[in-house]
Amino acid sequence: MKQMIIEGNHILTGDILIGGAKNSAVALIPASILANGISTITNVPNISDRDALIDILEILNCKINLNNDELKIDTSSLKNALIDEEHSKKLRASYYFMGALLGKEKYVEMYIPGGCNIGARPIDIHLDGFKALGAQVITENNKYILKADKLIGTDIYLRFQSVGATVNLMLASVLAEGTTIIHNAAKEAEIINIADYLISMGAQITGAGTETITISGVKKLHGGHIQVLPDRIEAGTYIILGALIGQNLKIKNIIPKHLEALTSKLKDMGSNIKINKDNILISRVANLKPTNIKTLVYPGFPTDIGQPMSVLLTQANGTSLFEETIWENRMGHVPSLNKMGANIKVKGLTSMIIGPSQLKGCEVTATDLRGGAALVLAGLTASGTTTINDVEHILRGYENIEEKLTQVGAKIKIKEI
Ligand code: EPU
Repeated sequence: MKQMIIEGNHILTGDILIGGAKNSAVALIPASILANGISTITNVPNISDRDALIDILEILNCKINLNNDELKIDTSSLKNALIDEEHSKKLRASYYFMGALLGKEKYVEMYIPGGCNIGARPIDIHLDGFKALGAQVITENNKYILKADKLIGTDIYLRFQSVGATVNLMLASVLAEGTTIIHNAAKEAEIINIADYLISMGAQITGAGTETITISGVKKLHGGHIQVLPDRIEAGTYIILGALIGQNLKIKNIIPKHLEALTSKLKDMGSNIKINKDNILISRVANLKPTNIKTLVYPGFPTDIGQPMSVLLTQANGTSLFEETIWENRMGHVPSLNKMGANIKVKGLTSMIIGPSQLKGCEVTATDLRGGAALVLAGLTASGTTTINDVEHILRGYENIEEKLTQVGAKIKIKEI
C-alpha cells in the first residue's frame, strides 16, 4: 500500500504542466486495436491506468513501444484472446476493448470492468448498442462474450448521454457495414479526440462533439496518429488548489474553453483568476463567497471536479450546496474532510458545506480517484501533517503528482508501507 504524507499550509507558486487527459488516453489505447499496422499516440499521461491497458494489449499479442509520453502500438500480430478477470477488473476503461475487439474481430471475451467505487456503473447502454449493431451478448457469471457474424450500421438512441457508451459504439461501428447514427451522444471534448484518432486511421465519422454522431463503415483501417488532449480534470484540480493556497500558481498547457464551467464558478466566488490562451494564473483570496453547484454532463459542471471543488467550498464564507447528478456515490471523501475539520452534511446526493473551516492534518483514507485528489488538496491547505492511505486510487489518474506539487513548493512524499 502506498501512503502520502503532506505537511500543509505552504503557499504554492510556480508552474504546473498539465499532461494528456486520462479519460481520452484510456479510450485511445484500446482503439488502436482497430488499425492494421502501427499507430502512434503522443502526450500519453504517465498513470497506472495506462500501464493496465498496455498489459491488456500485450495479452492480445500487440507490440508496444513506450518512449516517455509517446506510445507506439503495432497490431500486425494481433491474436484475439480472453481478457482475464484480473486484467478486466483493474480499471473501468478495460470495457473499451469490447467495442474495439467486437469491431475488429467480431468476438470478445472479457470480464466485468472495474474502476472507482462511485456508483453501480451498469453497462446496459453499451450492450444494447452492440446488440443494435447485430452482436449477440452472452453473460456467464462475471464474464461477457460478445460475438457477431457481421455488424450492420443502424440508428442508436442513447437513453443517457453516456461517455463510455458513445465511445464504445464509435469503436464498434467504424468497421461495420453501412451507416451508424448515434443519437443523444455524449459531447465531452474527449469524444472529439477519439473520433480524430479513428479518422486518422481512415474512419469516416462526422458530428463528434455534438449530440448526433454519424459513422459510415469502412472495410479496413490503417495505422493512425493522435496527440492526447490536455487533461481538463487534472487542470481543474490544480486550479482549485491555486484558489486554496496558490500565489500566482500557473496551470499550463490547457484548453481554457474546456474548463469554463469551473472557471465561471470560481469567478462568481470572487477568486483571483486570470485566464490566458493556454494557461490559467490563480492566487488565493481571503473572502471567497459560497456558491451552489450541480454536476451535469458536458458542458455542465464536471462530476469529476466535484470532489476537489468541495474542498474549496469549505473555505468559502457561508453555506454552499453541492448536488451530484451523475454518480450515486461521490461523497466517499466527506467523512475524511469532516475529520480534518470541515463542516459538511450529506443528504442523499446533495451536500451542504458550511464554511469557512480551519482544516487540520490527520490520517485519512482515499476511497476513489477524485475523492483522493480532494484529500490531497485538503492536506495541502490544512495546518499540520496529513497522512493519506490507499494513494493507489490517486495514481490511477494524476501523473507525477508528487513531482508536480513539490516543484511548486508543496511538502509531499509518497512512500510504500
Ligand atoms: N450509465 C448507465 N448505463 C450505461 C452507462 C452509463 O446507466 O450503460 C450511467 C452511469 O451509471 C452513470 C451515468 O450513466 O450514472 C454516466 O456514465 P458514463 O457512461 O457517462 O460514464 P463512464 O463512461 O463510465 C466516464 C469517465 C468518468 C466520468 C464520466 C462522466 C472514463 C473512463 N470515465 O465514465 O470518469 O465521471 O465519464 O463524465 O472515461 C473519473 O475520471 O474519475 C471518472 C469516474
